[in-house]
Amino acid sequence: MSLKYESTYKESIENPEKFWAQAATKVHWYHQWDKVLDVVDNHYRWFVGGCMNSCYNALDLHIDNGRGDQLAIIYDSPVTDTKKTYTYRELRQRVSKTASILVNKGVVKGDRVVIYMPMIPEAVIAMLACARIGAIHSVVFGGFAAHELATRIDDAKPRVIISASCGIEISKLIKYKPLLDEAIKQSTHKPTTCLIWQRPQERANMLPWRDIDWEVEEEKAGLVECVPVDATDPLYILYTSGTTGKPKGVIRSNGGHSVAMKWSMDNVYNAKPGDVFWAASDVGWVVGHSYIVYGPLMNGCTTIIYEGKPVRTPNPGAFWRVCDEYKVNILFAAPTAFRAIKKEDSKGEWVKKYDLSALKSIFLAGERCDSDTLEWITKITNKPAIDHWWQTETGWAIAANPMGLDPMPIKAGSPTKPMPGFNLKVLDEQGNECKPNQLGNLVLKLPLPPSCLMSIWSDDQRYKKSYLNFYPGYYLTGDSGYIDEDGYVWVMGRMDGVINVAGHRLSTGEMEEVISKHPDVAECAVIGVDDELKGEVPMAFVVLKDGIERDNRSIADGVIQLVREEIGAVAGLKLATVIEKLPKTRSGKILRATMRSMVDGKEWSMPSTIEDESVLADIQQSIEKLGYPIPKKGKK
Ligand code: COA
Ligand code: AMP
Repeated sequence: MSLKYESTYKESIENPEKFWAQAATKVHWYHQWDKVLDVVDNHYRWFVGGCMNSCYNALDLHIDNGRGDQLAIIYDSPVTDTKKTYTYRELRQRVSKTASILVNKGVVKGDRVVIYMPMIPEAVIAMLACARIGAIHSVVFGGFAAHELATRIDDAKPRVIISASCGIEISKLIKYKPLLDEAIKQSTHKPTTCLIWQRPQERANMLPWRDIDWEVEEEKAGLVECVPVDATDPLYILYTSGTTGKPKGVIRSNGGHSVAMKWSMDNVYNAKPGDVFWAASDVGWVVGHSYIVYGPLMNGCTTIIYEGKPVRTPNPGAFWRVCDEYKVNILFAAPTAFRAIKKEDSKGEWVKKYDLSALKSIFLAGERCDSDTLEWITKITNKPAIDHWWQTETGWAIAANPMGLDPMPIKAGSPTKPMPGFNLKVLDEQGNECKPNQLGNLVLKLPLPPSCLMSIWSDDQRYKKSYLNFYPGYYLTGDSGYIDEDGYVWVMGRMDGVINVAGHRLSTGEMEEVISKHPDVAECAVIGVDDELKGEVPMAFVVLKDGIERDNRSIADGVIQLVREEIGAVAGLKLATVIEKLPKTRSGKILRATMRSMVDGKEWSMPSTIEDESVLADIQQSIEKLGYPIPKKGKK
């Protein structure tokens, strides 16, 4: 038992206001809060009346405290063979000038700015420039296609969009600007300005009435100071997948977020000012927001922006090369990245070529980490590998092994214990608390700690419906799992249609909506199936309209292409098959769990409520045709 953890956790649950008020003293405030926590109509607002600026806490504060010449950013791009660094002072200069461009284009506090960027320093500069003037940024991951971007533009209604001419995926050049142009064509809302970073690998065509060249504008721009904002003003909106086709815009406030970032950097990651912190993720995901940008910078660390992959850029030693070259102290990545390395270098030969003496620990999140991968990482690096569980909605770890308190013994497969403020419970369908080791719904007793979502952008009802209505008084995480007899948390998977492909959260419902638009498709079902590398991958089953004579393979390929065009390559749909009929219950519910068990080769039983038993034989044949092992015989 870790006494420090136990007492810290107990204090946070019994006296949350005192606990977080104490943590908030680490943040710079122009004006201190009047009330630590205010609850109005199920909205939990931390540090009400407080006035601060997230960009000030990430940059200016350190310069004022003498860290101006320390590196803030190291940019390492094996795909363009580029390395570049920025000190805190240099970074502030660029952020301030970029903020000035936004101000000149009419952006004021509360306006939204959509950011659609590859992993280059300008992505971070864009985010901080918005924070500096109190504008709300909404970063859209570069792997999403034009239609997805259009959906987010229509929801966030940005005054300005910031983008780049291209991204580079290993050796493939992805032209971002045509995707942006197409998205704006599709969206009803039109931004007044697009600020474009022209990369040397590709020069984008500019529309003179709308597009402006960032580099040219920056040369002319002046400097702007940080604009004080209320602690409860939104810092950003980050869209994430839910059960429907429409993504949910998670709103995160300035004050609570800064407090949680500071607390977690210190206590969860044991990161100290001056440490080199590397979250090998993307700024398009919450991990990138919290631990590429805000967490490390607010903590006075050096953060790494890596434009590459764990393998093939150029080899499976890429992660270890970066750790050695920049003396990385803390590494954070998705388990899938390590599975990719393990696949190509199972004996860990590459790691031996590099000096990892600076590395203190390796953190994993984004998907369930299988014990094999966790143990393999520890074996080849001789460093503690720490799984921790969190989601876009919380912005930081719900459960972890806090390296800054007393670390606890690791149980491979468990993200250890709930973090302060997260009053985690396991409830059954009726709302009764489950016994130790009994599987149920993972929920958080309200109030949630600082940094958790304030609401869903432009859809407050959805916030209540998705998270709060299921069990009054609790937040529904959407994950199922259990707590064992030692209080360790085990996260087993989603209860809804959300799947996790290579650490990317995707909605099967959204894929189904896209596939339903195919002219030959009558109905369809998309399920997540086990994958050795990516954890899970989507698989689509489609039923054709009567009288369609075309070859089934070409229809399946068309479905795959449609998802790629509408959602993006990141959806990773590569498996699609045509079947006669979907297996349904007599009340019309698709038997997804049974289908998944069949594909995963797990034991499955014939549901008593099935409408037509013969349908499953057809599915069995389709699965075999896709090259999957013969599903285990079902019992009735
Ligand atoms: N812009 C444009 N396209 C992108 C993209 C981006 N930012 N990111 C991914 N894509 C594309 C890829 O090029 C690929 O396209 P393809 O189907 O034409 O090959 C597709 O989306 C799927 O990409 P990805 O999931 O990255 O698979 P991969 O096979 O290229 O690489 C891994 C496999 C495991 C190496 C990779 O998924 C990985 O590094 N995962 C880590 C994920 C992560 O950090 N998650 C963060 C959450 S914590
Ligand atoms: P995202 O919002 O994209 O970060 O995805 C959050 C979801 O990813 C969670 O709800 C979980 O389903 C899953 N997840 C993230 N981290 C873990 C983890 N350490 N263990 C198990 N599942 C995880």
